Amino acid sequence: MSTLETLWTDLLRHRTEFETFHLRDAFAADPQRFTRYSAELDGCLTLDYSRNRITDRTLTLLELLLDQAGVREAYHRMSAGEKLNGTEDRSVLHIALRGSVASDLVVDGETVLEAVGAVKDRLYAFAHGVRDGQITASDGQPFTTILNLGIGGSDLGPRMVTHTLRAFHDGPEVHFVSNVDGAHIRDCLETLDPQRTLVLVASKSFTTQETMVNARAARAWIASAVGEEKAGEHFVALSSNLEAVEAFGIAPDRMFGFWDWVGGRYSVWSAIGLPVMLAIGPERFEDFLAGARGMDQHFATAPFRSNLPMLLAALGLWYRNIWACSSVAVMPYDQRFEEFPSFLQQLDMESNGKSTRIDGSGVLRASGPIIWGAAGTNGQHAFFQNLHQGTDMVPCDFLISARPSKADAYQHELLLASCFAQIEVLAFGRTQDVALAQLLEQGMAQDEAERLAPHKAFSGNRPTNLLLYEQLTPKMLGRIIALYEHKVFTQGIVWGVNSFDQWGVELGKELAGQLLPSIQAGARQADEPAIFHRLKAYREN
Ligand code: F6P
Repeated sequence: MSTLETLWTDLLRHRTEFETFHLRDAFAADPQRFTRYSAELDGCLTLDYSRNRITDRTLTLLELLLDQAGVREAYHRMSAGEKLNGTEDRSVLHIALRGSVASDLVVDGETVLEAVGAVKDRLYAFAHGVRDGQITASDGQPFTTILNLGIGGSDLGPRMVTHTLRAFHDGPEVHFVSNVDGAHIRDCLETLDPQRTLVLVASKSFTTQETMVNARAARAWIASAVGEEKAGEHFVALSSNLEAVEAFGIAPDRMFGFWDWVGGRYSVWSAIGLPVMLAIGPERFEDFLAGARGMDQHFATAPFRSNLPMLLAALGLWYRNIWACSSVAVMPYDQRFEEFPSFLQQLDMESNGKSTRIDGSGVLRASGPIIWGAAGTNGQHAFFQNLHQGTDMVPCDFLISARPSKADAYQHELLLASCFAQIEVLAFGRTQDVALAQLLEQGMAQDEAERLAPHKAFSGNRPTNLLLYEQLTPKMLGRIIALYEHKVFTQGIVWGVNSFDQWGVELGKELAGQLLPSIQAGARQADEPAIFHRLKAYREN
């Protein structure tokens, strides 16, 4: 019987079989490679993973690795409400927000799906009320603008989803402010009318400094326009801390709660999704949830070779731990989807950027990689040079829809052509001989062509995944986010880390609190440059 460690050893040994492997040869030798190494869901979402440095044996070993790590069992334990987040003594049940747990599951004395349904009914009634003008601003006129104040999971998810689904907006316009840098809220407020603005204070803890500072600034801005006593009518809280919400002055009927078992980076499916509900309407938000639910079902039941999240996770483990790749680039070829890489940064890096395993021992191998990326084709003109000819191998995920939403069809064809071309070059490259022949064909002198050819050669053999989907609808976006959530989950189980806590962000927050008084104290001399004054506070701590 294999143990996890012997499987890692097998994978390392297997890696030596790739000394002469090139994707060019692999495709030449096997015209069925694309069919062999692609998987699809519901006839509208395809993962092409054929352009990876893999063989059947690689997949066999990776499947054994996931089995041995107990990924499927862990998912069942999570769905059953087990406290997988042991360092915070919490269940992990964001999947319940989209209905993917048993109807009789009880956690902390509550029937989970009943509790979720009750809050959702209130959220949908509220969203309908604001959208159809039944719930009004303090002057009795409709709200036309929503301002969401939150940070991390209370910003990245709802912001990315709201912006990605712009083609489906038919509600008030939505703005997002997250940074404690006062310029963020000031620049935003300058463009808004306080009489027409509904402010959503989105914070699970309702103690996050950035959000509370921005909430107080927004409150003063609203109060200066509508008066202190009516300002509350312009505020809503999305939180799990009722006491703090009340202390801030938001009435309980203007608060939409969620539970300890929803992690911040997994919270867009909860009340934190209210800005999305307001922008696209509750019916489309239901489609968004349905997409995620479909992916949950797929993850729980599909065999490894057609299981999209498991395949993505397994390939990630292969490159991270066997090929020592320290980063993964994610490129949505879709301008409205441009915030997906930053959303994924939190989802993946806050979940699996850990050096300690659940039992307190150190990790045995590298854990979560650096996640980065940008929308195509912009990225092509910024960092793709390095991806093609740099010295590091960076596995890439490309995401693109087959059909444009309402954009120009010709431009969408250009987008597709660009995306496929990049994948092709990364996989197949161009040898120096071919580069030389092409230069000579163009009429260049032999000497000059020989001098230039090495610069025009591309090694190729660089791994990519292509996620091609029919169209980026709410349902499809739900599927894609859940796909990456389960990828992160799978990898976390294999590495043995707790993917649901985030102690690494706490110490800096504590220190900032301690440093603030000394930054505020100490008068600056009239002739002292600000930089010296600040450096003094910095050094004295
Ligand atoms: O600083 C990290 C973090 O705790 C994230 O995990 C979370 O999404 C974010 O802060 C915001 O937290 P809250 O919703 O409690 O304001």
